[in-house]
Amino acid sequence: MYLEKLEINKFRNYEHLYVELSKSINIIYGNNAQGKTNLLESIYVLGLTKSHRSFIDNNLINKDSNFARIKGLLNIDDYKSTLEIIIQKTSKKLKIDNFDIKKVSDYISNLNIIIFYPEDLKIIKDSPGERRKYLNTELSQLYSNYYNSLNEYNKLLKMRNDYLKKVNDNTFDKEYLLIITNYLIDKAILIYRMRNQFLKEINNYCSEIFKNITGLEGFKLLYKPNIDLENNNFKEQLIEKFTKLLNTEIKLGNTLIGPHRDDFEFCIGDINLKNYGSQGQQRLAILTLKLAEIEVFKKNKGYYPILLLDDVFSELDEVKKNNLLNYINNDIQTIITTTDLNLINKDIIDRSKLFYIENGNLIESKEV
Ligand SMILES: Nc1ncnc2c1ncn2[C@@H]1O[C@H](COP(=O)(O)OP(=O)(O)OP(=O)(O)O)[C@@H](O)[C@H]1O
Ligand SMILES: [Mg+2]
Repeated sequence: MYLEKLEINKFRNYEHLYVELSKSINIIYGNNAQGKTNLLESIYVLGLTKSHRSFIDNNLINKDSNFARIKGLLNIDDYKSTLEIIIQKTSKKLKIDNFDIKKVSDYISNLNIIIFYPEDLKIIKDSPGERRKYLNTELSQLYSNYYNSLNEYNKLLKMRNDYLKKVNDNTFDKEYLLIITNYLIDKAILIYRMRNQFLKEINNYCSEIFKNITGLEGFKLLYKPNIDLENNNFKEQLIEKFTKLLNTEIKLGNTLIGPHRDDFEFCIGDINLKNYGSQGQQRLAILTLKLAEIEVFKKNKGYYPILLLDDVFSELDEVKKNNLLNYINNDIQTIITTTDLNLINKDIIDRSKLFYIENGNLIESKEV
């Protein structure tokens, strides 16, 4: 898939921008604070309805405006569709081919995006919540039923936690708690299975990619759910665990097991890179994850997602950079931003559509 055209209005520092992109490599270069990241962010928002770097939609709207609009012409094997998102101070509108789309789940699996950017390192470094957020975003793009299951799970979880806190109320009924628990377990199982399957598929590609980029063998992701993945009877396991934990959960007023407590590790052999990896290794691990994901998307969807690379070359040494560039393939629409064109090999530049950016304006250029 690729974005043929992109039009943005009043988004971040953009007043109005219209651009026709190459279906293979696009490079956007320019000084700091000109709008490179904002441009990638607009594409990300067009696909996923929210930003990768801001929780607050209002930040996306130009500070002198009360709305922002992003519109893109998507091409999948020559089947074209128009995606549009209008962000207002208190609401968001989603459209496909001018039809209003009410459910986010009907929207987000259409334009698939893999982004790699400097703050991505938090996926390894930060708490398990960051890793779950990553899984949720990627699985929602892959499967619309994941997004729905996760929402239902979160609602049930909140309901259960609220109810656990009501144990001293006269109306408290253990049977009712069991009913909620049962529904929760069914949704939990769907999420465990999809996450497990996804990480398994990533593992089919990532050790080879990591070896090709770094020369190191044995890279893998290790899923750490609070159930035994070897024992296929998830339902029985969870019922048993919940039964054992019931009194503690009532005491704490909190649900102690489930996919909301999941984690996964980035390992080389037995070594967890969170604790022992160098900053460079951690960055390359994330990069490997994203490159493996491209293949997982291709396998599941039948076409490549769009790859956004925000300022990723400045921190890699020459060898790793070249190894990474080998993965940049003309069949994958890639949008690369950089402040310094010298960081990108000449042969990649020759194959790219090149844009110079200044103060939210793009100028197509072949001049370097
Ligand atoms: N809502 C907004 N309204 C107006 N301007 C904004 C808004 N949000 C961000 N900006 C401005 O957009 C400008 C460009 O930001 P952006 O992050 O895209 O820069 P960049 O080109 O990626 O720079 P760098 O090379 O430093 O990463 C910044 O000056 C920022 O202050
Ligand atoms: Mg930037």
